[in-house]
Amino acid sequence: MHVLITGGAGYIGSHTCLELLESGHQVTVVDNLSNSSEESLRRVEALTGKSLAFVKGDLLDEAVLDSLFASHRFDAVIHFAGLKAVGESVEMPLAYYQNNLTGTLNLLHAMDRAGVKNIIFSSSATVYGEPETVPMDESFPRSATNPYGRSKLIVEEMLEDLLVADSSWRVVLLRYFNPVGAHESGRIGEDPNGIPNNLMPYIAQVAVGKLERLSVFGSDYPTHDGTGVRDFIHVVDLAKGHLCALKHTDEAPGLHVYNLGTGQGYSVLDMVGAFEEASGRPVPYVVAPRRPGDIAVCYASPDKAWNEIGWRAEKGVEAMCRDAWKWQSENPDGYPG
Ligand code: NAD
Ligand code: WQD
Repeated sequence: MHVLITGGAGYIGSHTCLELLESGHQVTVVDNLSNSSEESLRRVEALTGKSLAFVKGDLLDEAVLDSLFASHRFDAVIHFAGLKAVGESVEMPLAYYQNNLTGTLNLLHAMDRAGVKNIIFSSSATVYGEPETVPMDESFPRSATNPYGRSKLIVEEMLEDLLVADSSWRVVLLRYFNPVGAHESGRIGEDPNGIPNNLMPYIAQVAVGKLERLSVFGSDYPTHDGTGVRDFIHVVDLAKGHLCALKHTDEAPGLHVYNLGTGQGYSVLDMVGAFEEASGRPVPYVVAPRRPGDIAVCYASPDKAWNEIGWRAEKGVEAMCRDAWKWQSENPDGYPG
């Protein structure tokens, strides 16, 4: 298939491009590089020995999209492009709604005009809000606790409305849990701007000596060691989930929703220990107050994805930490430039 990947230069997008190329698909990426570097794509090409097409462009620019769809015949779109920092979304809600909602609307309009009606959307476990129980399955009620999460929820609803109006669309909503790790080559990985917001890149930068110590946000949660529990999933497993979803959209019309998680929860301190083990480096930490908006425990029921699209995570916490460490230690400042 010829697949258009929006946001393909980013963390999850670059790993997905690699898996698609290795499976024989043709790939075109559109990305405005607002949170990424074209170097990730060059490295994907070097790793696979295959080339992809890259268009530097913004989903807010409708002309870019029209010219893309006019010049290529895409079979499907995987839509990663968006802003993703929860705290920043609280400070800049309009920028988040403009980028994540208007960007998606522009994309859907362009797809509709071109008659390309096959899309996989990067949703998030954040759409479950504050669930009452775990594991979370796809039928759990949805809610949002911040503008980022609301943008994901609204896009999910937009796509549901679209299916009601036109049943020829094929839509897969993939709800990612906590993606971590890197490709095992250590050549591509997560390259956050400035001080990381998320746990794993923060731990990795402490281990490599760029940051002094981790602040553990809360040690009084009702969990086995008092720290927050999450469903960390290796980014390569996550990327492979998109291939399974792509195959499925080809076979099953309609709208489908899948959690992409492992079904296992690990605490913040579990991850600190696993990273120390994998890296052989100490990860000093201090206990700090809870981070506003955090929930105690979050992990997926991944059964639906296994039963319907034959996907399940294969890599454990050891591989997540080993690969994150290889990437971090071999690229301490991320991609060059
Ligand atoms: P990322 O920031 O690394 O990748 C997103 C890419 O989109 C970047 O390359 C960025 O330059 C590009 N982009 C942003 N706005 C754009 C626009 N208007 N036009 C063109 N390109 C644009 O993030 P990621 O971690 O790879 O996440 C990919 C998707 O998965 C996002 O939609 C994110 O919300 C979602 N998601 C991420 C996580 C996570 O923890 N990483 C969890 C759940 C869902
Ligand atoms: C994990 C745990 C923190 C940093 C976020 C988004 C979610 C999804 C995935 C996009 C929590 C603790 C963290 C630190 C810490 N993204 N922590 N010290 O919050 O589960 O999910 O990313 O859709 O929407 O909210 O991930 O990595 O930020 O935090 O103690 O410096 O690590 O309190 O318990 P989170 P995270």
